[in-house]
Amino acid sequence: MSGFKRFVHGWLIAALVAALSAGIVPAIALAALPAAPAMPQHVTLTWAGDPRTTQTIAWKTPVPCAGGQVQYAEAAAGGGLPGNAAMVTAQAEPLLTEGGNMMLHTATLTGLKPGTRYLYRVGGGSGWSEPRSFTTAAEKISGFKFLVFGDTQSDRYDAWRAVLRQAFAANPDAAFLTVVGDLVEAGQDYDQWDAWFNAAHEVLGVIPVMPLTGNHENYTPLWGERSPPTLFIAQFRLPGNGPAGLKGQVYSFDYGEVHFVMLDSQAREEARFVPDMLERQKAWLEKDLAATDKKWKVVFFHKPPYHSKAVRGNDDVRTAFVPVLDRYHADVVFNGHEHVYARTYPLRDSAVAYEPAAGTVYVTTGRAGAKVHGNMHANDWHEVYYNPEDEPNYLVVKVTNRRLAVEVYKLSGALIDSWQIEKGQ
Ligand SMILES: [Fe+2]
Repeated sequence: MSGFKRFVHGWLIAALVAALSAGIVPAIALAALPAAPAMPQHVTLTWAGDPRTTQTIAWKTPVPCAGGQVQYAEAAAGGGLPGNAAMVTAQAEPLLTEGGNMMLHTATLTGLKPGTRYLYRVGGGSGWSEPRSFTTAAEKISGFKFLVFGDTQSDRYDAWRAVLRQAFAANPDAAFLTVVGDLVEAGQDYDQWDAWFNAAHEVLGVIPVMPLTGNHENYTPLWGERSPPTLFIAQFRLPGNGPAGLKGQVYSFDYGEVHFVMLDSQAREEARFVPDMLERQKAWLEKDLAATDKKWKVVFFHKPPYHSKAVRGNDDVRTAFVPVLDRYHADVVFNGHEHVYARTYPLRDSAVAYEPAAGTVYVTTGRAGAKVHGNMHANDWHEVYYNPEDEPNYLVVKVTNRRLAVEVYKLSGALIDSWQIEKGQ
């Protein structure tokens, strides 16, 4: 994008955001909108509620319209959606972008049967998506796997498309996937989200995505400007159980015997909007981890407290989060930001604890986009270190009652790392 175009583009977004927050642009009168929904785009599964009994589905239409619907039914062997499929009307909200007004449609299906595969489609009138399926979490889970992707930010999203397709083809039974922040290069630039979803929607319509924010979600096309991650929050419907002022970007949820926590490490970028964001999360994290009785605790935030570059430390994040993670013994923390794959020894109070039972393993997850960082290196706390400058990579995490096992693959299938934590019954 040329400097002038970037300036105009950024100005347009800034004006839209300012106008919206000032209430100058009235919400589109939903009742006056056409009732026949246009063709759905970016059909995306998340969980705003319990993965055993709910499924949240969001999509967009390029023109304002309301009354979009989700049709769904239990999948019968060899059958399509039956004529008597259940129907739920989605909530519609305007999504103002530099490319024009779009509409976000969201519905959460409730009262679903655990451990059950459902068929669904979204839209209405003549604009229906292709039927797809999702599977609710079982009541008792003996084991499951999920996929972790490092930063996907890119100038183009071909690498993200390729590594996501490869990971899903090799693991079609994954329960969900996550991206550890920096999904796009400028999180307040809708064009980039459009490219990101276009690269990913075939998978995101089949398994839920439970992402977290990185510093680039705060960036506007004006580059020097910072914003709350409003486009991230709008497009991913996530659990609303986070601390005040950070809902939709900080949250926790359970799947099987794992308690997952997603935090926001962007104190520097968001200081103007939530000045005490780390302290606020620390207090929330204390309560959240104290309340869970799950066997495994897995925590995500973007900036690594144990970094790979001497000048790139994140001491504020380490000071805020690590004492709580130590106290409640998080088993694993997944980070991003540095685009390297790096696994620490089990650490407690920043010292090597040797045994996973006595410390937390911190994993910087590499990169699932095109962007690479040179000039990185292993530090003393790293047991395994690899800079994936040659190919993007992804992680497969398999969890059973007794074991949490992680395999890290390059796009081409080569294994970068394989490790596990054992825990008694
Ligand atoms: Fe980052």
